Amino acid sequence: MGIKNIPLGSSGLIVSNLGLGCMGMSAFYGETDEKESLAAIDLALELGVNFLDTAEIYGPFKNEILISKAVKGKREKFIIATKTGVEVDDDGSFRGVNGSPAYIKKAIDRSLKHLETDYVDLYYIHRIDPNVPIEETIGAMSELVKSGKVRYIGLSEASSSTIRKAHSVHPVSALQTEYSLFERSVEENGILDTVNEIGIGFVAYSPLGRGFLSGEIRSIDDLAPDDWRRSNPRFQGENFQKNLDLVKEIRILSGKKGVTPSQLALAWVLQKGYSAIPGTKRRKYLKENVSAADIEFSDKELAEIDRIFPQGVASGERYPLQQMSSLNR
Ligand SMILES: NC(=O)c1ccc[n+]([C@@H]2O[C@H](COP(=O)([O-])OP(=O)(O)OC[C@H]3O[C@@H](n4cnc5c(N)ncnc54)[C@H](OP(=O)(O)O)[C@@H]3O)[C@@H](O)[C@H]2O)c1
Repeated sequence: MGIKNIPLGSSGLIVSNLGLGCMGMSAFYGETDEKESLAAIDLALELGVNFLDTAEIYGPFKNEILISKAVKGKREKFIIATKTGVEVDDDGSFRGVNGSPAYIKKAIDRSLKHLETDYVDLYYIHRIDPNVPIEETIGAMSELVKSGKVRYIGLSEASSSTIRKAHSVHPVSALQTEYSLFERSVEENGILDTVNEIGIGFVAYSPLGRGFLSGEIRSIDDLAPDDWRRSNPRFQGENFQKNLDLVKEIRILSGKKGVTPSQLALAWVLQKGYSAIPGTKRRKYLKENVSAADIEFSDKELAEIDRIFPQGVASGERYPLQQMSSLNR
């Protein structure tokens, strides 16, 4: 029990089962606090959490730069995962999905510069480009591994068929996709079956349903005016209220177990043997989340969780329409 190091699939990459999602430290989720975020990353390492998740588009670039500060002098103690494939200009303007070899080669050098490192442990394709054969994208990633700039490669939000094609070009170490009590579609669309069969590690992003499952978000006004979640259908109108009702259920379950709602939601992912990368910008939540690794559910408790949180239980899509269409399905 407790935080443990697990292999991500069969490629040799070892990470802490609980990672730290760093996105919100620099983007999308309201106010940021660099000092507290740096302290949280320090504490993470102390508590055995070495797996940091970022992407060039978080900020853009600000999050990679923050991580460069956090890992200074102890780079080798961390597993840094970053992502490319959603094009951003050097001035931070978004250009859309781009999986071309030319962009990927440009992006890795920029990420290495921002991270102030000469290698990335895990380099993901953030979104799959429908206009570039995945084999070409992965061919470019493979060259990055050969050159030593990248140790392992991963995909995010890829379909089973894309995963298989990619893996035939270069071993894919990890698939990162949304997975939580609010979002269980990977259990039914063949993705978990595929990664388990091929030996690819699964990394659950937004394991707290973007904070909803923590029970701390009670009203849309708990989110800053510029918080991205205001555009997420699950946080809008009637969906918000229905999802809040589900959170009451998680409160009851976690109360019975003597844990917090966040801990219950995270322990559920960890018990399945997957890596979870909950996001937080503060030490308080990090400590709470780390304790989720001490929790074990009986079969009876798991059945109760399944009964209350079946696939499709959350109201509303997990992204606004336009972003839903950029998911590879
Ligand atoms: N591949 C992709 O397309 C993709 C998409 C989304 C996210 N991600 C990655 O996944 C990571 C995690 O996902 P996420 O941040 O979207 O969602 P999440 O982990 O489900 O939830 C994060 C939210 O939960 C809050 N929180 C965390 N622990 C808490 C606790 N113990 N009690 C109360 N609230 C708590 C955080 O608050 P504070 O921020 O205030 O601490 C934040 O608002 C991201 O950081 C990012 O690295 C990847």
